[in-house]
Amino acid sequence: MTIHIKDVAYTRLKTSDLGAATDFASRILGLQPVERTVRCHGFRSNERAMTLSYEEGNPGENIVGFELGDEDELDRAAATLEAMGHVVRRGSREQCEQRCVRDFIGFRDAGGAQIEFAVGLEVSGNRVFYSRDAGITGFSHVGLFSNDPIRDEHFWTQVCNARVSDRVGELPLLRISQIHHSIALIPAPRSGVQHINHQVQSIDDVQRSFALLRKQNVPIVFGPGRHPTSGARFIYFEGPDGMVFEYSVGVNEVDEETYRERQFGFEPTSFCMWGAKPAIKELTS
Ligand SMILES: [Fe+2]
Repeated sequence: MTIHIKDVAYTRLKTSDLGAATDFASRILGLQPVERTVRCHGFRSNERAMTLSYEEGNPGENIVGFELGDEDELDRAAATLEAMGHVVRRGSREQCEQRCVRDFIGFRDAGGAQIEFAVGLEVSGNRVFYSRDAGITGFSHVGLFSNDPIRDEHFWTQVCNARVSDRVGELPLLRISQIHHSIALIPAPRSGVQHINHQVQSIDDVQRSFALLRKQNVPIVFGPGRHPTSGARFIYFEGPDGMVFEYSVGVNEVDEETYRERQFGFEPTSFCMWGAKPAIKELTS
């Protein structure tokens, strides 16, 4: 039975330097700090109570969470995953509170990535109050490393409800709504989150952040540029522990009735139609 994902919900990142990561997430990335314990700091990017968190730990052990419809769907997803041989754990009350969700399940996908499916994502009564005027409108998509993109594409599209919007070489861009992509599978001999995208309001926000990031000596690893696949104008930059963050604007929406997936060559012009070249090794070799 298909696992029906509604949206990408949150990332939970581990870091060896919680102070530096928290400073980056608020002062550079511009998110709103919310929950704060000695070991874990949470952040908002949209109406939801939390969409990103940093906690002390091994940076390779990050988690991405997706939203399902209700508890019945969560139970069915757990049964489907267990039937496939995955070890599924149910979130404890404390873990649910940490994530600001009513319930969730967690498992490792075939490549070892930590994935969570959650329901009852808490929204805040207060509007989001960003730490800086980055123009953010919300958390939008993730890039996930994949040591077997064909296997992982099969999981997201056959076990779950994702559809292929485009491929660049062997790199599929997957949608779970009308938005061109919510998951990108980046071929690499590792697993976990490769990049985290926040949408911004306008191209001016992308350019303003470009100037600010340069001034703050934040490594810019791609852009400003425009993806010929999604149409989005973007900039990618490196945060703590090598995590890549992206701001983008103007991502295409897909008409399910008429859209047909496209195959792009694995070359720089497939990633940027303005001529920017990625300094992200997985996109260059
Ligand atoms: Fe992206």
